[in-house]
Amino acid sequence: MTDQAPAAYDGPQRVLSGVQPSGALHLGNYLGALKKFVDLQSRMDCFLFVADLHAITVWQEPDKLAAQTREIAAAYIASGLDPDRAAIFPQSAVRAHVDLAWIFNCVARLGWLDRMTQVKEKSGKLKERATVGLYTYPVLQAADILVYKATHVPVGEDQKQHLELTRDIAQKFNNDFNAPGFFPLPEPLIEGPGARVMSLRDGQAKMSKSDPSDYSRINLLDDKDTIDQKVRKARTDPEPLPDNLEALKARSEADNLVGVYGAMAGLTKLEVLERFAGQGFGQFKPALSELLVETMAPIGDEMRRLIGDPAELDRNLAKGAERASAIAEPVVDEARRKVGFWRPTI
Ligand code: TYM
Repeated sequence: MTDQAPAAYDGPQRVLSGVQPSGALHLGNYLGALKKFVDLQSRMDCFLFVADLHAITVWQEPDKLAAQTREIAAAYIASGLDPDRAAIFPQSAVRAHVDLAWIFNCVARLGWLDRMTQVKEKSGKLKERATVGLYTYPVLQAADILVYKATHVPVGEDQKQHLELTRDIAQKFNNDFNAPGFFPLPEPLIEGPGARVMSLRDGQAKMSKSDPSDYSRINLLDDKDTIDQKVRKARTDPEPLPDNLEALKARSEADNLVGVYGAMAGLTKLEVLERFAGQGFGQFKPALSELLVETMAPIGDEMRRLIGDPAELDRNLAKGAERASAIAEPVVDEARRKVGFWRPTI
């Protein structure tokens, strides 16, 4: 051994990400993930799956899961993903994810998983009754990413810790099996004003599928009137918008709405303030509502149309799964070889 730095990964650049089919998609999912996927598809090979294996870490009605999976695929396509360009597929249809996840379960350390805050939040007070799958959820996520040797992972800010774990697992695998540069250390793509969209009812809470109040979020399937009503009812304060970021930061609800406007319009928060400083929410909210309706309502309409044609969605999902398997299977085979599993000599 020399004391040189380990070889860097020099394979192709690939994008990988996924969304769970565990409830209605909302504006946070759109800005934190889907919109970024669409922006990336013309620049890199994209593998975008529906995370049904992750979804069953909490109870999912078996007779609804497949429909929920199609609904996410419909959201991908309605947002602008081209299934001939990006591979769109159900995670469970590519068995290599699970194969690699088991190997990674034997690479990752309990101490690393004990630090995962999202798992802790999801298991709540009844930790003893949470599934074992929920606990190892971040390890499966690392396998999702590394089974394609993905180099870029567009996600919202809540996934940051899982990406750090993925890098740790990649590095430890490469070290343990004397395979420098075998797995890349993937880069999270998180930045931008849409990385953490907050609830419309509470600027301190993340916009979430599981919030009991439907007024806390804008769903991808909301119609024009509902979007408009939710924006008008969004919690705010009586002050006009400030002209600097420092003053905005102290007002979480205002900060969130300015961020949403920026993410939708492709502007920074400061650029939004340059446009609206000194104006109250009576002026800002209608402008925001108009912008949201303009983009989101057509996505909802297209989703409804696509959901009405499950055979077409299934054709796209099957095609995506085939393309994904063609990349993932050789990677998992190589990982199995490095671990030293039996292979026939004949
Ligand atoms: P999930 O299904 O909870 O969310 C899907 C994506 O939406 C982002 N997101 C948000 N972004 C901004 N503001 C919000 N309020 C907001 N809420 C959700 C999430 O960050 C995510 O990007 N563990 C993942 C699914 C997954 C995955 C992967 C992602 C499984 N394997 C491999 C990337 C790579 C999850 O539960 O996402």
